[in-house]
Amino acid sequence: MRRRDALKAGMLAFLAACTGQDTQPGPGETDTDPLDTDDSDVVVGCLNPLTPHGTEAEGWTRIPLSDHPEMVDKYNGFETTINGQRVSIAHVDDDCFSCVGTVCTHSGCAVSYRASRNQFVCPCHGAIYGRAGEVIAGPAPLPLPVHPTDFDGEAIWVLVT
Ligand code: FES
Repeated sequence: MRRRDALKAGMLAFLAACTGQDTQPGPGETDTDPLDTDDSDVVVGCLNPLTPHGTEAEGWTRIPLSDHPEMVDKYNGFETTINGQRVSIAHVDDDCFSCVGTVCTHSGCAVSYRASRNQFVCPCHGAIYGRAGEVIAGPAPLPLPVHPTDFDGEAIWVLVT
């Protein structure tokens, strides 16, 4: 079993224990990943490397997967406010989460994660940012601020100071 498959199975078992729900595909259902074209046993690297998290006393915020069960699967994201800053957190690759500020560096519109592109998109003038906050297209002059992230198998950790 590939490492990412083992991790996903562990997360699904954890969520099933927390919610009492069966998270496995049912009969006739498939566990497909339309953006996953990697059939090798090589775990794809993370463009925004995870940072070993510290404690909540050190400013890290723990976000349990039980609060956001959709985040078990890649290409899901959500926006939240941490320490007064609006951020977008996305599961952008196997074992890889990104946390970026949502204020577009062009004119300040709210950027959000677009699952179909696996990128962060600004609705105002079309700026597109990559999963590590880098500018891909559009008028944005600077990347989005990127906050350190970590994942411990049960929770996402982010450091937003
Ligand atoms: S404010 Fe985001 S592209 Fe203009």
